Amino acid sequence: MTNIILMGPPGAGKGTQARHLVDQRNMVQLSTGDMLRDAQASGSEMGKKVATIMAEGKLVTDEVVIGLIREKMTAGADGGFIFDGFPRTLAQADALAALLDEMGQTLDAVIEMEVDDAALVARITGRSTCGGCGEVYHDETKPWAADGKCTNCGSTDVKRRADDNEDSLKTRLMEYYKKTSPLLGYYYAKGSLSTIDGLAAIDQVQGSIAGILDA
Ligand code: AP5
Repeated sequence: MTNIILMGPPGAGKGTQARHLVDQRNMVQLSTGDMLRDAQASGSEMGKKVATIMAEGKLVTDEVVIGLIREKMTAGADGGFIFDGFPRTLAQADALAALLDEMGQTLDAVIEMEVDDAALVARITGRSTCGGCGEVYHDETKPWAADGKCTNCGSTDVKRRADDNEDSLKTRLMEYYKKTSPLLGYYYAKGSLSTIDGLAAIDQVQGSIAGILDA
């Protein structure tokens, strides 16, 4: 069992790589962003509360996201967990360490996907996802098939996120550099950090991650 964190700014490719690891290694993806979007779609009170915060690109409170992760981590995952978009603050990192400890599990790797900020605008503004299965697409680098059907599940439901615009991206980046990037030093000091080139092609990034997991 291997538990890993994928870290990187918005658009670094965390979700894209997490989905591949789920397919290839039977791992379980825990994306707090997806959990919060599901809460919004379900119309729950919590979902309504976080909608504006997320659309503006600000961070949701630690209490809410730690609660979401705690709910999903009641049982271990055979292939291990991929934490995608969590932790984003020191309080979240401490909570994750405590949860893993309670379950008698370890954090095996923290993988930083290093990207150039200038590339992120193009990645974010060109992104869409499949409403049927969550497959991630990009208008230029990974377009939908000519028949408009998802290559994974056949759905034609193209979704674009409310926070995928330049204004919100600026706030998301600011939040990342102020509150999340200090965690890189925290995990480096713990000896768990590896850094890879997130600007490489999707299959090359897959190869870099495999190299770390199989080392
Ligand atoms: P979240 O959903 O986590 O968004 P994010 O961190 O901003 O990351 P993204 O999903 O935008 O990017 P990604 O790195 O997954 O990139 P992707 O693979 O899609 O969070 C959203 C919001 O929820 C936050 O702003 C906050 O409000 C709240 N939130 C969530 N977690 C929280 C927490 N822990 N605490 C507090 N608040 C929280 O790729 C992007 C695009 O690039 C795609 O189109 C893809 O096809 C393309 N692409 C990917 N890789 C490559 C490549 N190698 N080459 C070319 N194109 C590529």
